[in-house]
Amino acid sequence: MHHHLVYGIDDGAKSFEGTEKMIRDAVENNVDTIITTPHITPGQEPFPYEDYQKRLEEIRAWLEKEKIDLKLYTGAEILYTAHTPRLLQEGRIPTMAGSQYVMLEFSPDEQYKSILDAVSQVASTGYVPILAHVERYMQIKKMAQLEKMRRECNALCQMNNSTVVHKHGFFQERWNRRLLREGLIDFVSSDSHDLPGRKNRMQRAYERLCQDLGEGIARALTCGNARRLLLNQEE
Ligand SMILES: [Fe+2]
Repeated sequence: MHHHLVYGIDDGAKSFEGTEKMIRDAVENNVDTIITTPHITPGQEPFPYEDYQKRLEEIRAWLEKEKIDLKLYTGAEILYTAHTPRLLQEGRIPTMAGSQYVMLEFSPDEQYKSILDAVSQVASTGYVPILAHVERYMQIKKMAQLEKMRRECNALCQMNNSTVVHKHGFFQERWNRRLLREGLIDFVSSDSHDLPGRKNRMQRAYERLCQDLGEGIARALTCGNARRLLLNQEE
C-alpha cells in the first residue's frame, strides 16, 4: 500500500522496464495487491493525473498479457500542503484505492504541532489520515503524540519494510521496535522506488515481524489491515 511503480510520474520507476522490474520484485515477495502511491504536492506541483491513470491501465493490460496475478489500485503519497483538504474534497487527489483513507507525508523535520494540525484538518473533512513512514519524523518521538493523533483524528501509521529489515542507530532502532511492540503501527509496506536502491523486501519484513511479534501480527501488518482498507474502497 505504498509503492512508486507507475513510471515517469515521480521519483519511482523511470521507464516501463523499471515498472516491470518492480512488479517482478513484488511478485517474488509474494505480493498480490498494490496500492500505487505516486508523490503529490497539492497546489504546489502539477500532478499528471491523466498520465497516471493511462499508465496504470497500460500496466494492468501488460499484467493480463503476462498472466501475472497482481491487482493494482490508484492512490497517492501526499506531501501535505495547506491546499490538501480543499483539493481532497474536490476529488482532485487520489485517495487510497478510492477509499476514505489518504496517505500523508511530511518533511522529516516537520514540527509535531504542524503535523497534528494537518492530520486534524484532513480528519475534519471526513478522510482517514495515514501517516507515511511515521518512524522518520524527528519531532515525533513520544508515544503520547501518536496516541493523541490516533485517538482524536483516527490517524493510522505506516512503517517501511526497510525500517524492519535493516539495522539502525541505537535510538532509532529502539523507537522503531517500540512503535511496533506497542501496536502503534498499522501497516508495514515497501515504499519501493526504482531498483536496485529501494527494493520491495516484503517477504523479509514479514519473516522478521513473525520472529519479533508472532505470525498473527505479522500478517495483520503486512496484509490483513491493508485488505480491510480495500473493503472500504469505492473504485
Ligand atoms: Fe513513498
